[in-house]
Amino acid sequence: KVDVFLTPAGIDEHHLRDRIVVIIDVLRASTSIVMALQNGAKEVIPVEEVEKALKIASSLAKGQALLCGERNGQKIEGFNLDNSPEAYDEDTVKGKSLVYCSTNGSKTLSLTQSAVIKDLLVAAFTNITVVKEYIVKPENAENHLAIICAGKSSRFSLEDTICAGLLIDKLMADKKNQTGYILSDTARAAKILYEQFRGNELGALKESEHGRFLISLGYERDIEVCAKIDSSQALPQLENGVLKLSKFE
Ligand code: MLT
Repeated sequence: KVDVFLTPAGIDEHHLRDRIVVIIDVLRASTSIVMALQNGAKEVIPVEEVEKALKIASSLAKGQALLCGERNGQKIEGFNLDNSPEAYDEDTVKGKSLVYCSTNGSKTLSLTQSAVIKDLLVAAFTNITVVKEYIVKPENAENHLAIICAGKSSRFSLEDTICAGLLIDKLMADKKNQTGYILSDTARAAKILYEQFRGNELGALKESEHGRFLISLGYERDIEVCAKIDSSQALPQLENGVLKLSKFE
């Protein structure tokens, strides 16, 4: 069974029990986290509040931590990195612990720090096939899937839902998928929405509300990076509250 939560609002434990949970925040949290781990960051520690992020960073060894994230799309005062995926390059992040605080992405991740989940993965357009590969592994075939779109301030966002639709499209097209998937109504809707934008993902991102907001701040380049399907093989997976590269083969 595949379910999509169009926003994190109203999700509780029983929705996630024993499920593989996939978190999507295309613009830009998911994409930046994928980029950071791809470029050798040791771990990404998602944190909701700025004060808590500062506290965690100061508890880590000097020079080991980077404070990363955004408020209102912009770098947070006293932080090292903003939320532009290209800021997470190898020279900057390799070997570092990233204390990561973004508005909707971190909030959605912290919602799911619960023991009832089987696995938690982070998906973006940039790593969508590797996420699909994890889900279709025979040992995961029995697990229901919950895809959570981070949205914006508990409201629907076009780009996250389209990305969820792309993941479902890929799952259904996979040859290892013999039994088929039962889609919830929201999963079906996400797939249909994706089909409307197939091949024009960049256009969809640029037209989205958050895309337009980021363009108004001068972050148009970020949108291009976020729209690149399968530019990465990195699969972020939560382990004891911290995101690391999944070790799956
Ligand atoms: C968020 O988590 O709210 C976003 O990633 C915001 C952004 O940086 O575009």
